[in-house]
Parts: sequence; C-alpha cells; structure tokens
Amino acid sequence: MPIAEQTASSTALDPTWVRAQFPALAQTVKGQPAVFLDGPGGTQVPQRVIDTIAEYLSRNNANTGGAYQTGRNTDRMIAKARSAMGDFLNCDADEIVFGPNMTTLTFAMSRAIGRELGPGDEIVLTLLDHDANFSPWKALEEKGVVIRAVKFNEADCTLDMEDLAENIGSHTRLVAVGYASNAVGTINNVAKVVQLARQAGALSYIDAVHYAPHGPIDVRSLDCDFLVCSTYKFFGPHMGVLYGKREHLQKLRPYKVRPLTDNIPNCWEWGTLNHECIAGIKACVDYWEELGKRAKPELTTRRAAILAAHEAIHHHERKMMEKMIAGLLAIPRLKLYGISDQRRFGNRCATFAIRIAGHTPRELATKLGERGFFTWDGNYYALNLTEQLDVERLGGFLRIGLVPYNTLEEVDRLLAALRQIVV
Ligand SMILES: Cc1ncc(COP(=O)(O)O)c(C=O)c1O
Repeated sequence: MPIAEQTASSTALDPTWVRAQFPALAQTVKGQPAVFLDGPGGTQVPQRVIDTIAEYLSRNNANTGGAYQTGRNTDRMIAKARSAMGDFLNCDADEIVFGPNMTTLTFAMSRAIGRELGPGDEIVLTLLDHDANFSPWKALEEKGVVIRAVKFNEADCTLDMEDLAENIGSHTRLVAVGYASNAVGTINNVAKVVQLARQAGALSYIDAVHYAPHGPIDVRSLDCDFLVCSTYKFFGPHMGVLYGKREHLQKLRPYKVRPLTDNIPNCWEWGTLNHECIAGIKACVDYWEELGKRAKPELTTRRAAILAAHEAIHHHERKMMEKMIAGLLAIPRLKLYGISDQRRFGNRCATFAIRIAGHTPRELATKLGERGFFTWDGNYYALNLTEQLDVERLGGFLRIGLVPYNTLEEVDRLLAALRQIVV
C-alpha cells in the first residue's frame, strides 16, 4: 500500500528534538555544517544508542547462558531486544533472528532453503533488487534451481508486475523481492507479490532494508514468510535482523554446529553475536518509541508509538521530497531516475538517483563532499539496475538520501550547491 494511504491524520515531527538526538550532526566541513545525505548507506545513531552500547561493554559484557550476573543480564538484554524488534516488525520475539547484516542472514537462509530444493525448482527474483537479495538465491543454480529475473520499467524504475505474475508458476518455490529500491527509491507493492507467491504455493522473502527507515512494516498483515532488514539503516548499530514465520524457522534445517540448540530462533544464530550492538538495537527501538510518543503522547503501546513515529516521518519526508524533486528537475541537463510524478509520490521514498550530463557521479560526490554534503556515487550493489540502465560503465548514479534528521533548509542548500557545481 502506498505510504500516503496509510495515514489519515497528520502528526508533526519536531526537527529540533530529532536533530538534538544525533551527536554526529554537529560536525562541520571547512566551517560549514555537514549535511548527511548518505542515510541509504547507513544512518547516524542517537546518543542513547551510543550510550547503551558503551554501558553494555562497561558493565555487562559477557557471553550468553552464564550462571552469573553479567551472563544473565546479557540473556535478559537480548530477550528485550528481540521483543523490541518484534514490535518494530509486528511479530513474536521468537521469530526474530539477529545476525551481522542482511547479506549474511540471506546467505544463511538461502542455504537452508536450498537444501530443500532440487533441479527444476524455480526462484523468482527482480532486477530492481539490491544484489544481497539476488546473488544468494542465484547461487542455488549450482543445485539445478532455475532462476527467473523479473524486469522493471525503465521509464520510472518500477517493477513490471505483469512480468512478475507471468514468471510465477507451478514450479516456483520462492519469490524474493525488495520492499523499496535503495538506488531509485521505488516502493514495490510487496503485499501483491506475497499474495501471488502464496497463490502459487511459493515462499516470499522480502528485503526491507531500504524501506525500514521510511515506512511501517507489518509482517503479520503482509503475511510474508521472511523479511530482512538492517538496523544500521534506521538509526541503530551495524546489525541485521531476519523475521521468519515460526513454522518455517522450526521446519527448515539450518547449517549449524552440534552444541548449538535446536530451539528457535537461537538455532539460526551462529557463534557469539555482537551483544553490544544488540543492546544498541533495543535503544534504537526506544528512540522510535519516543519519537512516536512525542507526536502522540496518548499512545500506550510500543507498536502504536512506532507507527505514530512513521506517520510523523512520512509527512516530514514527503515535504522534503516535493522540494527536492522540484529543485532537481529544474537543474539543466539533470536526469532523475525513478518516479518523478507528484501524484505517484506515495510509491517512492525520499531516495534520489541522478546523473548530470558532463559530470561523473564520482566528480559530483567529491565536489559536494568538499562543500560538506555527504552523498554517494556508484551502483550501491543495485547492479542489475545500473547494468540495465547502462550507467554501470559510466559510474552509476549520484545518490541523495533523505531521512528524518534532514531538513527543508538542507534540501535548499544541497540544491544551491548542485546548481553552483554544474554551471
Ligand atoms: C536494499 C538493500 N538490501 C540489502 C542491503 C544489504 O544490507 P547489509 O549491509 O545489512 O548486508 C542493502 C545495503 O545497502 C540495501 O540497501
């Protein structure tokens, strides 16, 4: 569902409070305030996340399962973080698997699912996806699995839903799709994809890494089988999180060491995890909760507060997106990839991939970087996309990403800097 349709009333985000939470935002470059437009590559973290990580290391640093205070505190802390992520995604705590990042978790899950597959089984992927939701599945070709790659519409970088429906059939075992594109910002109709997969008796695997900071995730109402995200994209530490339906986590067979429990979700978590970062994940969800409660103080549950935070973020990002797209389109020789029609802004998030004739993305990123604007250039691992649009050999795109700690004033400054660079 487009984000715009999910919210009826408007709630305000307090940009001053939001920015005050992030110490990194106080940095300057050559006397100018730094402008962090690199959120799609990883967001900054609130002070409480930093403090919680330091506090864990100072007071509770221990392995799990110990018969002593810090070990027990670590177990309790991990349980709380799992439950917090359960509220973030709307599932139960035992359906939350922690891992180093989305890519590692996806390789692990694709190995386990691949154990059940053989020659002639089919997996449907998309050319719009980040490679982390492509290569781990494509590697199953070595088992005789057939990979089908769904096209996207080049004009607006939206998924070709007809092609997707045509590629799903009686041999389909899994459909892997991104919730939102980390390059061009398109939000896919994942509810429809999940429905098509289910009708064919196939599993659905959703990469929500890029979507998570921008829109609410509800795995129960989506009814997807798996969903992955990375907390470092939504103000948390560098960690990945996988949601798996309990029945799948119980039934599938993870590759694992013998002493590791067979109980879920731990049987999917290998070796000693990054406990300090798991502590940071709980603090990150606390931040989301406070953001929501500031917008709607009457809310009592964590899940409701997270949804309210998303509502406030949506309105703020929408205003910035309108200003940004109008300003970008007014720059001579600039091409914006993805949806640019305001009537369809509900189907995109505030992530912009651009090219400007006569300037390579690296040159633009470098010149912007010198002026204190942190953007990204290249393919951001959305390799199929840059190859199909034939920009891979030209340095990809310049990517500008907005998140809630960005401001309308920063958008104005970025546009002015770009205009200055390209004259
Ligand atoms: C859409 C998307 N999927 C997957 C990934 C990979 O995530 P991780 O770095 O957690 O492996 C990224 C990282 O940028 C991403 O943007």
